[in-house]
Amino acid sequence: MREKIIAGNWKCYKTLEEARNLVLEIMNGLKPDLDRTVVLCPPFPYLQMARELTLKSKVKIGAQNLWKEDWGAYTGEVSAPMLNSLKVDFVIIGHSERREYFKEDGALLNAKLKRALAWNLRPIFCLGEKLHDREEGITFKIVERQIEEGFEGISSEEASKVVIAYEPVWAIGTGRNATPEQAQEVHEFIRGKIGKLFGTVVSQSFPILYGGSVKPENIDSLMAMPDIDGALVGGASLKGQDFLRIIHYQRE
Ligand code: 13P
Repeated sequence: MREKIIAGNWKCYKTLEEARNLVLEIMNGLKPDLDRTVVLCPPFPYLQMARELTLKSKVKIGAQNLWKEDWGAYTGEVSAPMLNSLKVDFVIIGHSERREYFKEDGALLNAKLKRALAWNLRPIFCLGEKLHDREEGITFKIVERQIEEGFEGISSEEASKVVIAYEPVWAIGTGRNATPEQAQEVHEFIRGKIGKLFGTVVSQSFPILYGGSVKPENIDSLMAMPDIDGALVGGASLKGQDFLRIIHYQRE
């Protein structure tokens, strides 16, 4: 069975104290012997705290971004070797908010993916279409281009360490999630594309997460789809009990 991953993207929320309380609430609420990977992605300033609190548990920690160079005069940036030295496990790359507000393009995201892999960080590579793309019927074309740009020059062995999060932009923070069938259709397409690029051994074990208004109410039906291997959760990951319910999704 493919690895199942539930990741919480906290975005730009929480004070240090609130962040600490949320980490503790989630750790205390986890059922023992979970057969799925749980990832918390707090803002940069809280990574060390979150890492220290979770070090002896199975909870993984992820950063929300990284810079494309290892070191240098890049005021305000955080690099892969820094995250590696904090023992961070995952890093989100190419979130639609980075693509949109910070104008991150395919070449930059490709460079970031390579830095993350070089420093043993598991990338959660985000992609997804905008509403007008879907309405124009070019969802697959957009997703295919994002994969081709992002994975340029990546080997099959490297690709096997990557996780993709399909996040349709129209579903993020809007309360309007993709239906399980809509998500499944794109996930299946993504798996097919990964198979063409890296072979079926990689594509069959490749985790593809869905993101966009994931809630306690819709996680079970999303996870019932054959190509949905987990979720990247925004708003609902900020509420301990909601995120715990999502982590402990029921198999339908
Ligand atoms: P919401 O769950 O708030 O829609 O956010 C999704 C997201 O962007 C996760 O990265």
